Amino acid sequence: MKDKITVITGANSGIGKAAAYKFAAEGYRVVMACRNLAISKPVQQEIMASTGSQTIDLMELDVSSFDSIQTFCAAFKARYDKLDILIHNAAFLSHGETEYKLSPERVELSFATNAFGPLYMTELLADWLDRSHDPRVLNACTTNIKNFFDPKRAIEFDNLRGEHRATRRYSSYKMYGDSKMAFLMLTFKMAEQWRARGIKVNAIQINRVKLSKETVAKMKSHWKALAWAQNLTNPHPSGMADHYFYLCTSDSFKHVTGQLINHRREIVQPASNEQGLNQLKNIFGSSYYPKYAIEQSNVDQVWGMGQTLIAAHSS
Ligand SMILES: NC(=O)c1ccc[n+]([C@@H]2O[C@H](COP(=O)([O-])OP(=O)(O)OC[C@H]3O[C@@H](n4cnc5c(N)ncnc54)[C@H](OP(=O)(O)O)[C@@H]3O)[C@@H](O)[C@H]2O)c1
Repeated sequence: MKDKITVITGANSGIGKAAAYKFAAEGYRVVMACRNLAISKPVQQEIMASTGSQTIDLMELDVSSFDSIQTFCAAFKARYDKLDILIHNAAFLSHGETEYKLSPERVELSFATNAFGPLYMTELLADWLDRSHDPRVLNACTTNIKNFFDPKRAIEFDNLRGEHRATRRYSSYKMYGDSKMAFLMLTFKMAEQWRARGIKVNAIQINRVKLSKETVAKMKSHWKALAWAQNLTNPHPSGMADHYFYLCTSDSFKHVTGQLINHRREIVQPASNEQGLNQLKNIFGSSYYPKYAIEQSNVDQVWGMGQTLIAAHSS
């Protein structure tokens, strides 16, 4: 596996760090794409020391910034001649945050980090993925999208650039869930776009995993207490990292594209019935996702906004 190259965003903590460890231990070349090199360097060294791998690279990337993504992709292409596996693991979720924040492209920060940044990065790296014999992209999604089983739930397309920030209450949880729903829709669309080129694009529905001590340390005190309590029973990130590895390397998923996959490695289906008891099964189970994700007008809006942002940045 020495020649297989894997890029993992947000690889300095939580599931991303566990995934960097797993891929390195299995002999893959790993590029940790992280925004803070000072805190990420000791993590790189720790993984190198414990796996014995000499092929773990650390490169700077702020996935909420199109300039940073462009710089990262150019530097990556100068250093590597192909890309085999791209894992969009990094995410923005500031627990309890009530202040609306914009990215450098003036997009709400959850959407910039969790949806449009990964879209732009994948588009820029698609020609390097073409050079792999088995290119796979994996997007970190969440069970939080099940909130879209509520028929009233919708992405605030009219407020993603802060149009109503002065008058609408900001909820970091709602924006996080909305941005992950947008990311799922982009996953389906990217898969369709690149199917003929052989680039497979899937999403993984992450349910619950212990939060890293670094992530808990950033929280306000009452959120810290809650996270601490949840961490008592939540599983370790290594289990989810094993799923990342399996979905990106196993023969079973070699030809799978455009799918959402759950924590049991099963393909999640669009719900055909969102009424009554079926709805309860949808909400408490992990087998169906809301049909909101495949409604054409929603997909077109997310894709259209992504393409408009990318075109504006490239012009
Ligand atoms: N843990 C769970 O229970 C759970 C549940 C559902 C879904 N997920 C998803 O699983 C993935 C990993 O979650 P986790 O719990 O392991 O998270 P985590 O430990 O909080 O790590 C998040 C990572 O993303 C990085 N990041 C955030 N903004 C970034 C940016 N603009 N540019 C580059 N990197 C950025 C962070 O970097 P810094 O260290 O510099 O902040 C950190 O490395 C995320 O996509 C998350 O949404 C997790």
